[in-house]
Formats: sequence, structure tokens, C-alpha cells
Amino acid sequence: MISKMLQKARDFERKYLPYTLSEQPKFHVTGGIGWINDPNGFAPYKGEYHLFFQYYPYDTKWGPMHWGHVKTRDFIHWDRLPAALAPDTDYDRGGCFSGSAIELPDGRHLLMYTGVRNVRRRNGKLEAFQTQCLAIGDGEDYEKLEQNPVIDASALPEGGSEHDFRDPKIWRENGKYYAVIGNRPADKSGSILLFESEDAIHWQYVNVLSACHNQYGRMWECPDFFRLDGKDVLLVSPQEMDAIGLEFHPGNANVCLIGKYDRSAKHLNRENVQAIDYGLDFYAPQTLLTDDGRRVMIAWMQNWETALCKIEELRFYGQMTLPRELSVRNGRLCQNPVRELESYRGVKIDYYNVLINGEATLRGINGRCLDMTVTLRPGNENSMFKWFRLYVAKDGEHFTMIRYRPETGTVKVDRTHSGFPHDIVNIREFPVSMRNGALKLRVILDRYSLELFVNDGEQAASCVLYTPEDAGAISFSSDGSVLVDVEKYDLLME
Ligand code: FRU
Repeated sequence: MISKMLQKARDFERKYLPYTLSEQPKFHVTGGIGWINDPNGFAPYKGEYHLFFQYYPYDTKWGPMHWGHVKTRDFIHWDRLPAALAPDTDYDRGGCFSGSAIELPDGRHLLMYTGVRNVRRRNGKLEAFQTQCLAIGDGEDYEKLEQNPVIDASALPEGGSEHDFRDPKIWRENGKYYAVIGNRPADKSGSILLFESEDAIHWQYVNVLSACHNQYGRMWECPDFFRLDGKDVLLVSPQEMDAIGLEFHPGNANVCLIGKYDRSAKHLNRENVQAIDYGLDFYAPQTLLTDDGRRVMIAWMQNWETALCKIEELRFYGQMTLPRELSVRNGRLCQNPVRELESYRGVKIDYYNVLINGEATLRGINGRCLDMTVTLRPGNENSMFKWFRLYVAKDGEHFTMIRYRPETGTVKVDRTHSGFPHDIVNIREFPVSMRNGALKLRVILDRYSLELFVNDGEQAASCVLYTPEDAGAISFSSDGSVLVDVEKYDLLME
């Protein structure tokens, strides 16, 4: 049964979506109309990959959370489906918050999400109660289960908060179902709880998989847990993070904990803790396993702190990152754009061993929707350059700059001149290392974004840009001799 509230959202989409088509990014997912935040239910279903998202169709700011819905075969071209969930039931009237999805053995599509119930206290304050709920469907229409909520406060360990208990990520392993869920324990920071179930409906609490202890921010949102390249990997999105060196930025941050899952203690023993993305806009990542065994991650390419800093004319707000293939190399999480992107490349324009010393442009190296890799090496071993800058999305007024300084071993991304009409954080700097005497910068540009991948994905940095579409110049500059190789492809998305 489609509720009135869900039907209203679907009617609204049908009416207004066509008007926003010309405003959309060329290959990044948006809601089409209205607001989106976290990716939800990113999972294979019947030979395609489905993606849902936190969604409020009626405005470009956060509102009562629905789930929007798209699907793809290649992670680049997406088909839009009607909204999947609306907050239309007593236990989720405050919002259908983030969650995940799997294909059941009988071919049905299971969504697991957080239902929020708001209760108004006598002092006028709203208190939110969060529980875990299920909906089952056919890839387009979903029915919420009678048994909802299937996990409530009674399942929480001692001290766990029923107000911060959200974002289940479900998976199936050896015939059993598991879910990791974010919670706020008695120390008021964050923890990730592990649950298990025989049938995906009746759940038992197992253990605290990993806890924050106020070390990496406070409440941990949107967990994801998987095995990759012989390691166990937990992704979390902490709130109220303090900056830690150049590794973690303050506010709503993103953290990857890599280690070994102790199967008897049901606990993740950490070996390395790092940022997932070092850019300005990245939150709440979620992953899936492709049929050919790749772990692919997508995230909200936005930042809560700047979420109200937008372009008024645009009728949608928020976009996803490009899906990325993950790997663990030398104990670190690495990420690269999905390989499917390569089949959208136009003609290659390349240069090898070009000496840059001062300002330079290269014929044919320009464009605003592109995939470009710049590899740089010192041009003179006896006198090291101090800085190298790459300017993209550039015209007389605009540019976005990527700067490398070998002395500090850092890359800085600066989007101060990217057309954002707000005084917000525009710069991020992060540590990198040369590999075999070279640094590789791969830049992916779409209408409203830049995604940078350093050294085949050792670091990634994502940023929203509002630079005009015809600002397509690219230039290089350095204060000493730098040898560069450049390979550039326009991305042909029409
Ligand atoms: C993270 C988050 C989740 C929550 C959702 C609500 O961005 O706060 O914890 O489920 O957004 O929209």
C-alpha cells in the first residue's frame, strides 16, 4: 500500500523533476528536486545497483526524512525511481533515517532503516526516540513490516542512549544476518553495536564492535563494516570531532578504522585509524560488494556545517561522490574512481616530461567535465622546487587550486575562488608522500564538484564547486623545475 504521504512525494517528483534536468551534475547523483543527505541502501539487487538517500523533496533544506531512490548498472548512468519511503507511521513520523538494504534469498528487497519518533515534552522540547525498522519490496514499492520496530531500546547494552541509536548497515554471511548500528554510550561519545539475526526480523545484540571513548569525536553515525584485502574495515562518521593534526578536520568528520576482527571477542582490534577523504565535502559513506568482488563506496559530497550555504536558484541540494573502488594497501584505505568511468572518456590528450618553471599552459589541456592525471617529479635534483600549483576550472575570476609542497609533504586544495557566495571553509591541507620520486594527482571535474585522488588513491579529497561551466582553463605553475606528465580526457556524458 502506498500511503498518502508517499503518494504526495511521488506526485510532487513527477510534476517538478523535469524542470530541474538542465541544472543537474552530469554524472553525480542528486535527488533531482529537493534536499538529500546520506546514501542509504547502496546494494546490488537483481543484477543492478540500487541507491537510496535521505531525502526531503519539497525544499532545499533538511526536512522530515523520506528515502529517494535511483539505480544503475555502471555507477555512472543512473535511472530515477519514485520515492521509496515516507515518514508516515507512528514509529517513524520524525523521519525515516539512514539505513541499508540487501536482496533476500527469495528475491525480495529488504530495507533496514532508523525510525524516529518525536515526543514533545512539557517544556516544549522535542525528544527523539530512535528504533530500527524494516520494509520489504520489489525494487520499487516497499511495505513497512507489521513487526516494526524490530530493534528498540530494550536491546541496548547498559547505558546506551535510545535517542542516538541509528543508521543500521545490514549484511548476510553464512546464512545469518548481521547489522552494525551507531549508538551513544554512557560516556556520551559513540560506539558501534553489532547485532545478529537468523531471519532478518528477530535481532539479538551481540557486542560493542568498536567504541570512540571520546577519542575521535563523539557520536559515531553511519557505520559500515567489511573485510577487504585481508583486513577488517570499519567506516564511521563522527560528530563534534576536534581537529587532529592534518589527519582529521573538526566538526562532522569521517574516519576509517582498520584492523582485525576478533571472532570470539566479537570486537575490532585497531591497527590503523585514518581519514577516509581529506577534502571539504564528504560524509556518511556506504559501501557494497559488486558481483565481480569489488568493494565500492559512495558518500554524501557535502558537509553539515556548510549545508545551508547554497546557490538559491538551484532546485536541488546535495549530491553524492563518484562511486569509488576501495582497497587496503600497506595498511591504509585507498580509493579510486570506479573503472566504469573510463568508458565515458573522450580522446586522450597527453604530454610527457614537460618542464615547468614559472607559469605554463598546455595546448588542449582544458575542460570543465574531465578526468585528468598530472604526474610530477623534481626537474633538478640539486635544487628542489618549493611549490607546484595546478589551477583548474579557471577563467578571469575563478579558479580552484591544488598545491603540492615537497618540504612539508602536503597537498592543499583551495576553492576560495570557485563561485561559492558564502564565507565558508574553502581550504584543506593534508599529508602525502612521493612514490618512486613522483606525485600523481588525478582530478575528476563535474559541473559542481572536484574529486582529487593522490598516488592511485592513497588520499582522496572531494569538494563542491559552483564555478561557471565555461571556466574551463587549466594552468600549471612552480617556483623551480618540475617535470610533468599530463593525461587528460573529457568525460562525454550526454
Ligand atoms: C548523518 C545523519 C544520520 C541520520 C541522518 C538523518 O548525516 O545524521 O545519522 O540517520 O543523517 O537525515
